[in-house]
Amino acid sequence: MRVGILGGTGDFGRALAVRLVEAGVDVVVGSRDAEKAAATAAELGAVVGRTNADAARDCEIAVLAVNASAALDTARDLAAALGTTPLLCVAAELSFGKDGVKPTTEALSLAERVQAVVQAPVVAGLHSLGARNLGGDDAPSEDTLVCGDDAEAKALAIELAGMLVDGRAVDAGPLASARALEGLTAVIININKKYKAHAGVTITGVH
Ligand SMILES: NC(=O)c1ccc[n+]([C@@H]2O[C@H](COP(=O)([O-])OP(=O)(O)OC[C@H]3O[C@@H](n4cnc5c(N)ncnc54)[C@H](OP(=O)(O)O)[C@@H]3O)[C@@H](O)[C@H]2O)c1
Repeated sequence: MRVGILGGTGDFGRALAVRLVEAGVDVVVGSRDAEKAAATAAELGAVVGRTNADAARDCEIAVLAVNASAALDTARDLAAALGTTPLLCVAAELSFGKDGVKPTTEALSLAERVQAVVQAPVVAGLHSLGARNLGGDDAPSEDTLVCGDDAEAKALAIELAGMLVDGRAVDAGPLASARALEGLTAVIININKKYKAHAGVTITGVH
């Protein structure tokens, strides 16, 4: 598998690259800035650094790991470069206030809005996997959730997700489930703040 991480210079993208390299996956780290991508790739080792557009052109599945506020515009800008390559959206639109972190008030998830601007099949997932847990010494002991409408793209994303955790990559249904998964990011951050924790999720009762 060859994975392009768009916005791979951030905390989440870097942690993702570390786990994927460990699993023997070819990783292309993307950035708006080719030099920044190359520097990050050199630092991480065994990965290549490119502009986001070149990373999108040179992978079997792309992960949209840019800052959530830039996800929709970045997806729109990269739509042609992506073509029909599956796009895994990990972003969650959140608002931060004194009373805690809240999910978006938009009716549709960010992933569904991304799907509206790209031809590529969009899947969504990994929202409950904190960068710190993901980038630790070992794969984190938690499950991770993936959803999507395109069966092939979702199968590929689940294969990728399964390499990241010591638990399972669980199919959470259609892309509309991203409304809940993106909201889960807010839940996890609130739990982490309250309990000074690094929380993740485990789904029980699934064999
Ligand atoms: N951090 C976590 O624990 C975590 C967990 C689950 C999901 N996520 C999701 O993963 C994504 C990345 O998280 P992060 O913490 O790594 O974010 P981040 O560090 O804030 O941003 C990641 C990268 O986004 C790019 N970027 C920033 N502003 C941009 C803009 N205006 N246009 C295009 N690209 C821009 C930057 O790359 P360049 O400057 O190199 O272009 C940056 O390195 C987010 O969508 C977040 O919701 C994060």
